Amino acid sequence: MYNSSCSCFILFVLLVQITIPTCVCSDDARYTSCDNEFACGSLTLIKYPFWGVNRSNYCGKQTYKLDCVNNIPVIEINSLNYRVNEFNYYSHTITVARMDYWGEICPSRLVNTTIDFAVFNYTSATRNLTLGYGCPLNPHPPEVTVLEYLCTINNTKTNVIYDPSMSCNRSVVVPAFRNVASDLDQNRTSLVDALRKGFALKWYVTNEESEQCKSCIISDGSCGVHPNNDSFVCYCYNGPSLGGVCDKRRGILLFPRLLPFMHAKRRFN
Ligand SMILES: *[C@@H]1O[C@H](CO)[C@@H](O)[C@H](O)[C@H]1NC(C)=O
Ligand SMILES: *[C@@H]1O[C@H](CO)[C@@H](O)[C@H](O)[C@H]1NC(C)=O
Ligand SMILES: *[C@@H]1O[C@H](CO)[C@@H](O)[C@H](O)[C@H]1NC(C)=O
Ligand SMILES: *[C@@H]1O[C@H](CO)[C@@H](O)[C@H](O)[C@H]1NC(C)=O
Ligand SMILES: *[C@@H]1O[C@H](CO)[C@@H](O)[C@H](O)[C@H]1NC(C)=O
Ligand SMILES: *[C@@H]1O[C@H](CO)[C@@H](O)[C@H](O)[C@H]1NC(C)=O
Ligand SMILES: *[C@@H]1O[C@H](CO)[C@@H](O)[C@H](O)[C@H]1NC(C)=O
Ligand SMILES: *[C@@H]1O[C@H](CO)[C@@H](O)[C@H](O)[C@H]1NC(C)=O
Repeated sequence: MYNSSCSCFILFVLLVQITIPTCVCSDDARYTSCDNEFACGSLTLIKYPFWGVNRSNYCGKQTYKLDCVNNIPVIEINSLNYRVNEFNYYSHTITVARMDYWGEICPSRLVNTTIDFAVFNYTSATRNLTLGYGCPLNPHPPEVTVLEYLCTINNTKTNVIYDPSMSCNRSVVVPAFRNVASDLDQNRTSLVDALRKGFALKWYVTNEESEQCKSCIISDGSCGVHPNNDSFVCYCYNGPSLGGVCDKRRGILLFPRLLPFMHAKRRFN
């Protein structure tokens, strides 16, 4: 009697010491990295298909790389940097504003906004604003209200006209939210504020990838990609999954009461 309860106790100690450390300490590095959220400034909880900072390149699609610069989330699109103002997992959109037009309308390089349509798309809530630089002002009818600003660019003074009806030396197209653009038309907001509000961009994940990522998260995996071809992979505590979902941790089955402490709560909204 005494002997059998003693060997039970020894068995228990062995299980605690052997199974628990192996399942707590040695999670696959890819699982851990892709389980990190990108959090920068006011943006949090950003995961697949985005990567950057403490999410390795295989945690998102190559073209969806985020940076965090002075606590500002930044994305580069066609060589221009954009500040990411908002993030919406439901509509698959980010709201971005051009960094060169943040708080000013006189950047030293005048470049149009171009996006890569293989990576992002505009939404129907978008309207293009045109800014004319170096516009001839004299012959405009007095009933037309003109939003005119002044800039000094490269030591040269120039005017800037929102939505010019005349042809100007240079022009720059910047998208804006349709409702913000109409506020601007009615002089209910300033050009600088309209540009700060930015515009929405839809990112692409296929329905199949969305479903794969959901199943992966439900099985306690973290979503990522094959680094060489961007195709979806579910990373599990014990490495990339073959079937798209993760196996249960073996140690946990012996100690069901420890389950709540080992499964971190994870959200995918
Ligand atoms: C890195 O990951 C941790 C854990 O998920 C998170 O709390 C932190 O905010 C992340 N930092 C950045 C800059 O993404
Ligand atoms: C200002 O000068 C820089 C450098 O020479 C040039 O790249 C840029 O296009 C100029 N900007 C304008 C608005 O002419
Ligand atoms: C921007 O695009 C408009 C029309 O699409 C074009 O007329 C203008 O020259 C472009 N501006 C620059 C700086 O490339
Ligand atoms: C981009 O959006 C437009 C409408 O806003 C739509 O017609 C077009 O099919 C979309 N392109 C892709 C690749 O989804
Ligand atoms: C804005 O202009 C770009 C080209 O400069 C074009 O691709 C885009 O479709 C335009 N957006 C709208 C809403 O007209
Ligand atoms: C347009 O550019 C030309 C040549 O750089 C300059 O002489 C002229 O003053 C500019 N026009 C306006 C309205 O600024
Ligand atoms: C727009 O509003 C500002 C003040 O909010 C005013 O100073 C300016 O004259 C207005 N411009 C036009 C064209 O109505
Ligand atoms: C992507 O690469 C992985 C590993 O190299 C391979 O197993 C997988 O079949 C590839 N997927 C596609 C769609 O090519």
